[in-house]
Amino acid sequence: MTATDKITILVFDQEKEFAVEVHQYLQNSGFTSFSTGKLSELRSVLKEKKIDLLILDGSIRGSDAIALLQEVRQNYPDLDVIVTSATFPTEMVIGVMRLGAIDFLRKPYKSADLQVAVERSRKFASRQLKLKLAENRNSLIPKSLAEKIGRPFIGVSQKSQEMLDAAMTAARYPDANVLITGESGTGKENIARIIHYSSQRKDHIFCPVNSSAITDSLLESEFFGHKKGSFTGAIADKTGFFEVCNQGTLYLDEIADMPVNLQAKILRAAEEKLITPVGDTIPVQTDFRIISSTNHDIEKSVEEHRFRLDLLHRLNTFHIHIPPLRERPEDIRPILEYFSDLFSQKMNRPALTIADEVYTVLEGYSFPGNIRELRNMTERAIMLCKNNLLVLDNFPIKSRTHGSSKVHTEITSLKHAEIELIHKVLRHCKYNQKAAAEILGITRDALIRKMKKYNIIIGKSEGDR
Ligand SMILES: Nc1ncnc2c1ncn2[C@@H]1O[C@H](COP(=O)(O)OP(=O)(O)OP(=O)(O)O)[C@@H](O)[C@H]1O
Ligand SMILES: [Mg+2]
Repeated sequence: MTATDKITILVFDQEKEFAVEVHQYLQNSGFTSFSTGKLSELRSVLKEKKIDLLILDGSIRGSDAIALLQEVRQNYPDLDVIVTSATFPTEMVIGVMRLGAIDFLRKPYKSADLQVAVERSRKFASRQLKLKLAENRNSLIPKSLAEKIGRPFIGVSQKSQEMLDAAMTAARYPDANVLITGESGTGKENIARIIHYSSQRKDHIFCPVNSSAITDSLLESEFFGHKKGSFTGAIADKTGFFEVCNQGTLYLDEIADMPVNLQAKILRAAEEKLITPVGDTIPVQTDFRIISSTNHDIEKSVEEHRFRLDLLHRLNTFHIHIPPLRERPEDIRPILEYFSDLFSQKMNRPALTIADEVYTVLEGYSFPGNIRELRNMTERAIMLCKNNLLVLDNFPIKSRTHGSSKVHTEITSLKHAEIELIHKVLRHCKYNQKAAAEILGITRDALIRKMKKYNIIIGKSEGDR
């Protein structure tokens, strides 16, 4: 135990020397502790101080331990209680358990027993977890930034580091628009928040807007605002998102769903930073940065004339692509551990251990819902988990347990087949990479990348061809 684990403990024991001894042991172990042998003092300390754990000796002269425990539990339902006693008659054990004491210790007990009982207390466990969460070693962003965006950014992969580097570059240019692409649940909004809160705009608003959630008829007035009486239902003046975001960041989620007629207006506003509310004639100057995101193939939307090319050019001064979780499987373990700690803490449970099979199977799973899916399945697994060990049975992908190792094999064999094919074609083309790439239907650069990836080395004389 260290001083940082501080929880405040009150020791009540009418054997004064014993109370003082326990109190001193706790203090030496880094806890804040108080001790008393008087009932009146016990009540006043509980009233005046924020006590997390009460070590209550049940052999009380002139009073009933069960009645006292009942009184304490009623007045301080969040207080953890450990009951100690030289004897534990059955009715006392039953009463103590019914009243929700977390442990009982038979006197005389060893200091090691006391330590174990204290560490088992919910308060201790949740402090430990909070500490672990706050100091999460796998967060790539500083604690102060994580606090601002409300979550850490967990990742150990090269790809995670690259996205963060790209976000930090975008943060240094507070006027440049940023387009973030990536599958659903990959963490696009997370990156948008990191950019905003690391930029000069951090003290102003970050305003997330999902335009697909706003009805078409209201879109224009939501973005540009309106004057009272400009249309039926405009009962008061309204400030639009562009003006609300003055000096801040407007985060446009799911940009590909924006109706085409509004796209032209958004483009003009983004270019001129001058907006005219519906029903008004005087334009207002406003200064905002747009970070937009999509999980659609936006280039395809442009080809199909559902998205304006000029708007795309205006929005993607910086383009950050977030790879799906399955392309960075090294991140699965630390993110799973983070969510396990987070939800254990929220559900007031001690830290859980995760069985090896869980890691193995999840690292081979495709995660179509990405980090959001991992988050949801971990929360559910903790609810289903009966003891302190998270096992595969607690996860919804258990039915694929066997399949998963098969998936692994398939992936391995696919990789194997690709390597074989590259070797074969290279041999066939007498190691002429350009010709081999043509047969394989990829560019020469792509072939070279694959050869590097699979460590396919061709002899100098062969490679020269
Ligand atoms: N690197 C990360 N570390 C920890 N949590 C993360 C990370 N990335 C994303 N998350 C969490 O995953 C969830 C989904 O993230 P987010 O909402 O940013 O995704 P999104 O790409 O915007 O999703 P959608 O496409 O559905 O809008 C959130 O709970 C977020 O906190
Ligand atoms: Mg989102």
